[in-house]
Amino acid sequence: MSVRRVLTGITTTGTPHLGNYVGAIRPAIRAAQQADNESFFFLADYHALIKCSDPEQVQRSTLEIAATWLALGLDTSRAVFYRQSDIPEISELTWILNCSAAKGLMNRAHAYKAAVQANEDNGDDPDYAVTMGLFSYPVLMAADILMFSAHDIPVGRDQIQHVEMARDIAQRFNHNYEELFVLPEARVDDNVAVLQGLDGRKMSKSYNNTIPLFDTEKRLKKAINKVKTNLLEPGEPKDTADSTVFQLWCAFADQAGVASMEQAFAEGIAWGEAKKQLFERVNEELRGPREEYDRLIAEPGHIESVLRQGAERAREHSAPLMEKVRSAVGIRPMG
Ligand code: TRP
Repeated sequence: MSVRRVLTGITTTGTPHLGNYVGAIRPAIRAAQQADNESFFFLADYHALIKCSDPEQVQRSTLEIAATWLALGLDTSRAVFYRQSDIPEISELTWILNCSAAKGLMNRAHAYKAAVQANEDNGDDPDYAVTMGLFSYPVLMAADILMFSAHDIPVGRDQIQHVEMARDIAQRFNHNYEELFVLPEARVDDNVAVLQGLDGRKMSKSYNNTIPLFDTEKRLKKAINKVKTNLLEPGEPKDTADSTVFQLWCAFADQAGVASMEQAFAEGIAWGEAKKQLFERVNEELRGPREEYDRLIAEPGHIESVLRQGAERAREHSAPLMEKVRSAVGIRPMG
């Protein structure tokens, strides 16, 4: 069996919530335990600069996200866990790729197009507040991926296009210069739940409907109590199909747990009781990691050293490949 290299990046803006945990972090940490793959996970702090110009927030979020992955048990002796900005080869490669990536391809990127559309809708100049960072974001992401010869890129649906662009950029380079890059593929896991938020829409920071991952137990309970339900009274049978409480339950319960909650719904469990059980179940899974998270956050120097070690391992791959890339494009020693 050949080992597949799995790589994914986490933009360091914001604090991870339950949706990030269920949809991305938990499956990634589980996948990293499998013997048939080699995981590269990194904190995309250069990508954070595109969205966030508050230095304190970029730094804080980087710390929080690193602490989150470590607290949840990422095994850094197996997975390579690093910070994008610790790998100078990534920005070097970004420039070289910029020189062969088609502008027309970037014009089609969703995130950029959405920004232009919003400007046009508002009657603003189409370029209003559009930075070169936003425009060439997919090139930086291509460098992230191609620098490590990754095969599989686990992402959410919104990122599929970017992975396809990375593939396109790799093909172009391989054709024009030398076959140096592996062609990556986006992996969207349909078995992983896209968690609903407090209001029943997709849980997302932009909808302001998230449930915190590592806030205090009290706040977790409060948030779960705010999950939207209907007006059915205790004793009235409830439908699991349109229930956010039930959907959240399923993301944390095993098969037997799901079956028993189904039955409780049919028997008319009170919303308050269902939420109480949901809180207890979620809290049981998160209690240990939460304690570890608090410990880690208080010790940023330790996290810093874990990330540096990760960067050292990552550079064992990026440095030699970058040498080849430089040489392939003609940036070589004289004589
Ligand atoms: N752009 C991705 C996001 O916002 C994060 C990211 C940066 C990434 N570089 C990557 C994901 C490389 C996968 C591979 O979600």
